[in-house]
Amino acid sequence: MILKLPGLIDPHVHLRDPGATHKEDWHSGTCAALAGGFTVVMDMPNNTPPLTDAQTLAAKQRAASERAVCDYGIHFGAGADNAQIAASFAAQCSGLKMYLDQTFGPLKLDGLDSLISHMQTFPREVPILCHAEGRTIAAALFVAQIYDRPVHICHVSRKEEIELIRAAKEKGLRVTCEVTPHHLLLTLDDCETIGAGKCEVRPMLATRADVDALRANLDIVDCFATDHAPHTLFEKESANPPPGYPGLETALALYLELVREGIITLDDLIARCYENPRKIFKVPPQAETWIEVDVDAEWTARGANMYTRAKWTPFEGRTMRGQVTRVVLRGETVFENDCVIAKSGTGRDIRPLN
Ligand code: DOR
Ligand code: ZN
Ligand code: ZN
Repeated sequence: MILKLPGLIDPHVHLRDPGATHKEDWHSGTCAALAGGFTVVMDMPNNTPPLTDAQTLAAKQRAASERAVCDYGIHFGAGADNAQIAASFAAQCSGLKMYLDQTFGPLKLDGLDSLISHMQTFPREVPILCHAEGRTIAAALFVAQIYDRPVHICHVSRKEEIELIRAAKEKGLRVTCEVTPHHLLLTLDDCETIGAGKCEVRPMLATRADVDALRANLDIVDCFATDHAPHTLFEKESANPPPGYPGLETALALYLELVREGIITLDDLIARCYENPRKIFKVPPQAETWIEVDVDAEWTARGANMYTRAKWTPFEGRTMRGQVTRVVLRGETVFENDCVIAKSGTGRDIRPLN
């Protein structure tokens, strides 16, 4: 059976361009997005150097406009000292990303002062997204509440985290959140098969009890996000493996697995991969845009066959059901029969400069 769905929106990817294009660039990353059924991706600022000022924003806007084959948003990076600058570029960005815990790259906010100044200064109508784990989620929720602004918590992965967010929502706090396919489908036990270096990811995979808690609270999860974080196999198997999994090309089949298991409905999937991210991140409508998915098509996940430059997947060898057969963007077929047809630069910024 072929399903026609809206083009999916992923609010959380790392396309590494500029700065680390051996891992991914705007072309390879957005080809992976189309192959996975996404017509909008929002890119994170932990580049080399981090996207925290006018110059780094302009460089990313240029790279994306030249190479992207799907539409995109650019998240600005919250630095220790750039609250005014970040606010001044809010209209050109899909969000402000704050790193409250250590992950890949140097972009990390340590001081309470910088957390406060960003929450105070950044325009309320553009989302602030937080990489926050454990207690820093409580800090982000509290400061956002004090300064009366919404906050989006990225990749929630633990039982106590999702339960705290549920309680915050029940109290009326303006918080939204996302979960990743890997935190919904894998546990620490899978590291044995995946391999220790490849398994590194932030937040780290968790326990069966955490996965069960995420699944039990999916009703309060606003978005699914891949956190597509490509690193090469060589890097992942090195002595100091960087954290992160590529995810764009496996996400939809994994979400469909949750539908088949009866954990979510197809409508729930569409709410989390399209309607909610569209509302939260104010994605403009993409006219005449849809994806066609053969929900019965079986395939085997093989990193080597993927568009991502990472060329590996934590789901290597897994039998997947559900394959994107065609993507239409603004009336043009941009992906069909496993081939990207769109030319580099077809993708548009969801926050055009003019
Ligand atoms: O595993 C991760 N990788 N988590 C993050 O927060 C960052 C990402 C990356 O950029 O590689
Ligand atoms: Zn993160
Ligand atoms: Zn991320």
